[in-house]
Amino acid sequence: MKKIGVITGGGDSPGINAAIRAIVKRANLDGIDILGFKDGWAGLIKNDWQELGLKEVSGVLPSGGTLLGSSRTNPFKTEEGVSKVKETYKKNGLDALIAIGGDDTLGVAHKLKDYGIKAVGIPQTIDNDLAETEFAIGFDSALARVTEAIDGLHTTAYSHHRVMVVEVMGRDSGWIGLFGGLAGGADIILVPEEPYTIKEIKKRIEERRAKGKNFSIVVISEGAKPIELDQQITKGTEADEFGHVRLSGIGHYLADQLREILNMDVRVTRLAYLQRGGQATPFDRLLATRFGVLAAELCINGDFDEMTALKASKVVPVELEKVLSKSPKPIDKKLLDLRKIFY
Ligand code: F6P
Repeated sequence: MKKIGVITGGGDSPGINAAIRAIVKRANLDGIDILGFKDGWAGLIKNDWQELGLKEVSGVLPSGGTLLGSSRTNPFKTEEGVSKVKETYKKNGLDALIAIGGDDTLGVAHKLKDYGIKAVGIPQTIDNDLAETEFAIGFDSALARVTEAIDGLHTTAYSHHRVMVVEVMGRDSGWIGLFGGLAGGADIILVPEEPYTIKEIKKRIEERRAKGKNFSIVVISEGAKPIELDQQITKGTEADEFGHVRLSGIGHYLADQLREILNMDVRVTRLAYLQRGGQATPFDRLLATRFGVLAAELCINGDFDEMTALKASKVVPVELEKVLSKSPKPIDKKLLDLRKIFY
């Protein structure tokens, strides 16, 4: 093992740079060179990279975003894309690739096995929807943002006796909505895993008012579905290279309905990209550091087509095939039902 390429793909999140730093530091101990490819898989298609040595990763531990840049480029979109990736891999004398990202990015890494490319994955997504790992890098930082926002919304909601609808990310998964809502003490939490009815929300808000609570916080995941619509609300129809259409607007959809049936002021906050921005939490820095070291060691030991995972507080390798076939990671019913104890 002499040379490893690193790529970061998909939606960014805080903690990626900590993982890159850990890969570089661990590889350096064995005299291995690291090449950082720019802007996700696009960097391998275009042979666009930079050397990553100790100097390049100095000071990046807490920083958000990805120093390599990211994109949602899918090399399998065209025949030419995959052959370019293969060509770049060979031309640069790479012995392995470490891909940091969510299901799309790691799905590509897994498929590249059939093209003679040896890869290891590191889970990174604020959505936390990758199976076989308790947490992905970025989720904890996103949770911190969501919790802080809900804390803030509480004070203005009670002053103005308002219903505050908070739309959070997560794509088809409710991990951010559920955990963020629970941590922030939201009064209603709506996630894609369980379609909701407007009636149940009205009932809950009225019950609170009857108890003298003149405000309510409703957390809704961007992918949540009202029963009557039975579909997600999207922004336009254009899909990215992995076939995803941008989700957005369910918060306003719900608020409009609530205004019609409640005699209360309703306001909407979309946390959007603030959930992915800024510095990484200590938990994410540590997780990324442990994942980065393990990923480098998997390459050194010749264990490919694996992903680093957190299981019962230990970092362990899991088969990428298994991860991808079980993702998106379902939310346990017991966890979902936790919401009802606090309603
Ligand atoms: O997968 C991470 C994520 O932030 C999702 O929660 C969200 O739906 C999506 O990315 C947004 O994608 P984009 O950055 O392409 O707008």
